[in-house]
Amino acid sequence: MANKIQSIKGFYDVAPRAQKNWRYFESKCLSVFDQYGYEEIGLPIIEATELFEAGVGTHTDIVEKEMYSWTDKLNEDKLTLRPEGTAGCVRAVIQGSLTYNGPIKLFYRGPMFRHENVQKGRQRQFHQLGIESFGLTDPASDAEQIIMLSRLWKSLDLEKKIRLEINSIGDIDDRERYRKELIEYFEKNTEILDEDSKRRLHKNPMRILDSKNPHMQDMLEKAPKLIDSINEDAKKHFNSLCQILKNNQVEFKLNKRLVRGLDYYNRTVFEWITNDLGSQGTVAGGGRYDYLVERLGGKPTPACGFAIGIERIILLLEKTDFENDINSDIYIVNLGNESRDKSFTIAENLRNQNYKVTVNLDSASFKSQMKKADKSNAKFALIIGENELKNNLIQVKLIRKDGSQTEVKEKDILSFIKQNI
Ligand code: HAM
Repeated sequence: MANKIQSIKGFYDVAPRAQKNWRYFESKCLSVFDQYGYEEIGLPIIEATELFEAGVGTHTDIVEKEMYSWTDKLNEDKLTLRPEGTAGCVRAVIQGSLTYNGPIKLFYRGPMFRHENVQKGRQRQFHQLGIESFGLTDPASDAEQIIMLSRLWKSLDLEKKIRLEINSIGDIDDRERYRKELIEYFEKNTEILDEDSKRRLHKNPMRILDSKNPHMQDMLEKAPKLIDSINEDAKKHFNSLCQILKNNQVEFKLNKRLVRGLDYYNRTVFEWITNDLGSQGTVAGGGRYDYLVERLGGKPTPACGFAIGIERIILLLEKTDFENDINSDIYIVNLGNESRDKSFTIAENLRNQNYKVTVNLDSASFKSQMKKADKSNAKFALIIGENELKNNLIQVKLIRKDGSQTEVKEKDILSFIKQNI
């Protein structure tokens, strides 16, 4: 026997049963995003490596060690499987001049790739649903995205499992000043810093604040906080955002240590977190990035967005029961080739009327086919045996009602189904 080829570590299939949860989740997202006027944009999975270096930042974990990058054999282009969606979306907005007629609100979905250590809720290929708005500066636009997410969690019955943390990291000058202040503080505490933090000290000191190392928590708690020294405009922006959230009954916690792992943010940053998934509890994260469009070659354009990690939400939804979601309306039991051919014709006619139809294809016994009809959750079993074939009849069994069986003329089958469904 040939060797069984396995999938790559951190890359997973989505089983049909789980796929139902995905569909359910995506349909809820699409309808909520639609209510708020977001339009879907399709984006490539492969982009130029320099897009992520310039966009996400060369000193982030993602760019330093997690990207799947290679040189194209044919033309030596340096390419990368996208580790996130924002940089590609910004590239598309600039390239297509999508803000030409004013602000635009977009969403995208699909796989992202990061070479991370694999654990529950952390994969190497994972999927995001991302939202980005371009051209809007008002704190109301940050607030609208957060309120929209809160509505989404409610529609999925997840609002009790997920909490919101927010912070403001000010503007570029604030960050530069704070960076220096933070490096000075950490340098005074080098004996407490772990190896990872020492490595980050001069490249990306703000990320040290995110460390979960228990030995560093006390020192991190006492570290200066950026939000305490941001400029007046940024402070006003943040206060106004908080007020809008309160007015709309969205609960949140101010987390002064929240900085996020990507370099493009300024002012608002936020994360939605659950306690039900162990250490990988962030189910969605985002914030404002008013300088990225310009940094990637576009005209200065304020922007704000977030991405939801679909797998993490699916793990939270796992216990939800969608048994009856996408099963057949009608199951056709047939015996022999001629009966099978007839079943196909009838099935196609019923599908023309938008019914979901399963034709049994395994030539099993009548009894076993009836069992399968029952399991499929179909409302009707249509039985086409020898006698029915000869006389252009169909036996229809109402398997979800009283189990009664009626003989129906083949030409009357549609109207019978319509009357009895
Ligand atoms: P991010 O925080 O890197 O942000 O990722 C967003 C979400 O994707 C995370 O909260 C998590 O749920 C999920 N996620 C990230 N890495 C993994 C992984 N290895 N396995 C499973 N799920 C994962 C961004 O990507 C930004 N582009 C979000 C954004 C959009 N900011 C502004 N606009």
